[in-house]
Amino acid sequence: MRVSVWRGRADGAFQEFDVPRHASQTVLDVVTYIQRSLDPTLAYRFACRVGMCGSCAMTVNGVARWTCRTHIDKAIKNKNEITIGPLRNLPVIRDLVTDMREFFDKWARAKGEFRGAATRHEDFARIRPDSATRVQAEAGIECIGCGVCYASCDVVSWNPDYLGPAALNRAWTLLNDVRDVTNADRLRAVAGDAGCHACHTHLSCTERCPKHIAPTAGIAGLKRAVAVAAMRGEL
Ligand code: SF4
Ligand code: SF4
Ligand code: FES
Repeated sequence: MRVSVWRGRADGAFQEFDVPRHASQTVLDVVTYIQRSLDPTLAYRFACRVGMCGSCAMTVNGVARWTCRTHIDKAIKNKNEITIGPLRNLPVIRDLVTDMREFFDKWARAKGEFRGAATRHEDFARIRPDSATRVQAEAGIECIGCGVCYASCDVVSWNPDYLGPAALNRAWTLLNDVRDVTNADRLRAVAGDAGCHACHTHLSCTERCPKHIAPTAGIAGLKRAVAVAAMRGEL
């Protein structure tokens, strides 16, 4: 197959390579072949190769994907001409490697870290698996931080300050964790112009998330929670 791969920084260009096809080949296999057999200077990022670490996401034929779980045979329409570039909406460090700092800085801005009040001397919290908050928290907890949703969101492109679907999904997950004690701060953090109300419900994040998470649903939940807190004068 003929593979066009992004080289350089934001002002770089695509470079073409010929790569042999084989059964069960993933996009990450293709990139690895190029780096190991054709051009060892190609920069890309991966770790687990099994869909756990979230580090291998790239733009494949214009669509953000986790490349270690994207099979050429199943997922790619034109299997003989493939274009592979870095994720959108993030600065390019080199070739296929993006700078993820602003992506994770936004998790911090959305109060994406757990803060409990219990000490190690207290008993475990007992939370019913079928409680509404537990079910809602579980819906978003499997996020692997791959950035696919962030790269697929047009609102992030238009407004680089927007927290984006992954950070807001994280905020929604923690908002539903009854052990967390910082929800008032968290709601204030996601209530501003760059927060949940900036989402246009385009659904690209939900369509693209490889873990089948629906950040759009979480963002809608945040909008409702912010409205309720505002009516109660808690913001
Ligand atoms: S639903 Fe909202 S967060 Fe998701 S891609 Fe669309 S605008 Fe972005
Ligand atoms: S919500 Fe889905 S697409 Fe977005 S970072 Fe998490 S796993 Fe990746
Ligand atoms: S290499 Fe870890 S998710 Fe792809």
